[in-house]
Amino acid sequence: MQVRVGIVGCGTVGTATAKLLLTNRELIRKRTGIDFVLTKVADLNWEKEREFEIPRELRTTDYREVLSESDIVVELVGGKTFAKELILSALEEGKCVVTANKHLLAEEGKEIFEKAKEKNAFIGFEASVGGGIPVIKALREGLVGNRIKNILGILNGTTNYILTRMFEGGLGLEEALSEAQRLGYAEADPSLDIDGWDAAHKIAILAELAYGSYIDFGDVYVEGIRGVDKLDVELGKELGYTLKLLAIAKRVDDEIEIRVHPTFIHTEEALAKVSGVYNAVMIEGDFVGKTMFYGRGAGGHPTASAVVSDIVDAGKFLLCEKRTPVYVDWEGRKLGVRKNFYSRYYLRFSVPDKPGVLASVARVLAEHNISIASVLQKEMVCKIAGSENEPVVPLVILTHKAYEQDIQSALSRISELPVVVGKPVLIRVEEEAY
Ligand SMILES: NC(=O)c1ccc[n+]([C@@H]2O[C@H](COP(=O)([O-])OP(=O)(O)OC[C@H]3O[C@@H](n4cnc5c(N)ncnc54)[C@H](OP(=O)(O)O)[C@@H]3O)[C@@H](O)[C@H]2O)c1
Repeated sequence: MQVRVGIVGCGTVGTATAKLLLTNRELIRKRTGIDFVLTKVADLNWEKEREFEIPRELRTTDYREVLSESDIVVELVGGKTFAKELILSALEEGKCVVTANKHLLAEEGKEIFEKAKEKNAFIGFEASVGGGIPVIKALREGLVGNRIKNILGILNGTTNYILTRMFEGGLGLEEALSEAQRLGYAEADPSLDIDGWDAAHKIAILAELAYGSYIDFGDVYVEGIRGVDKLDVELGKELGYTLKLLAIAKRVDDEIEIRVHPTFIHTEEALAKVSGVYNAVMIEGDFVGKTMFYGRGAGGHPTASAVVSDIVDAGKFLLCEKRTPVYVDWEGRKLGVRKNFYSRYYLRFSVPDKPGVLASVARVLAEHNISIASVLQKEMVCKIAGSENEPVVPLVILTHKAYEQDIQSALSRISELPVVVGKPVLIRVEEEAY
């Protein structure tokens, strides 16, 4: 049985996908019983160098040739405008669609999934989260019998590389970012990664699948790593924590928490050991307990591996007379998103090394129902902009679990205390106990 596949966008992932389909065609045919034939590959520029040469007869600059000559349309252009038009017209024509476009699905997936439902069409997006890690398939199939309690993910390789270098190599943020750019792990404009948006797109997609609820992307709390100071990475290390940009989705009663921010996790936790550009996702289900998925979260080859797994599913869908709906169907469900998180906190204040300072900070925390778990005061002098004449030391307070709103209002009161210099630092700590 033959199924025709066409690719639009022949960049990093498109080239690797074409290479995989052509190189392993016979292997895939033996394993699946389906012969996936690459019929056309569209790109605007065929002059640029690629890691694999696409045969001339497959090349086109007109995406419409891909639409007319394939049963499965693979969108690997990226961006939101053209990609969305392409996906909607392919679905409209009843084609199966495979995409890796997390940006588009997280922000405008509703329209796309509704179109897929209307047309009873297949849309696969395994490669949109975690690159080569089959985490979407795990949620959809392997864990389908579970109510998902939590998802904790290291979903962005660039920021994980930077934080790893800060933790292990003692580098500052700028230094680690330049190194990542030099090694090709960070874009020239790294904002989507550094500011947390890429991880936020991915956790929004995972949460929609896990909780069967439409998520308005604007409801995701997003804080990137731009403000991370190496002093906090070092102090956290002394306290037994590793700093990660964690993407978190949790079911709390009838609401969900969905957030991305720098987070301290205990150095002994499996997620803390995920270093460099690697990604990992920990999913906890009510029957299965904790499961963890680990691998390369980006790069042409790992991502192509995920794209091809969707292509195979699309082929099976076509040959099974479209009996299993394969789209995200929320049936109009939209769970509330809880903004008042309940978490443990690491707080750092810059204060003069004088008696009574800790007591005045602790008093405000107590007035806001925040209980202190431990205190660390270093005899090191910090430099704080605008306070050159006043030597200050870092005072670190780890709290027991507290509500975000209480923490925020306590911090604004503490910032006004005459003994506190500069802006306090707040880093959330993900820890089940306490
Ligand atoms: N790279 C990864 O590791 C990775 C991992 C997971 C997911 N993804 C996702 O995969 C998708 C593709 O990423 P990528 O890294 O492969 O991007 P890329 O290297 O920039 O490739 C995109 C390709 O599409 C071409 N293109 C742009 N407009 C087109 C049009 N109208 N018709 C035909 N081709 C067009 C581009 O040509 P020009 O260069 O001439 O503009 C480029 O060759 C994105 O959604 C991305 O988020 C990527």
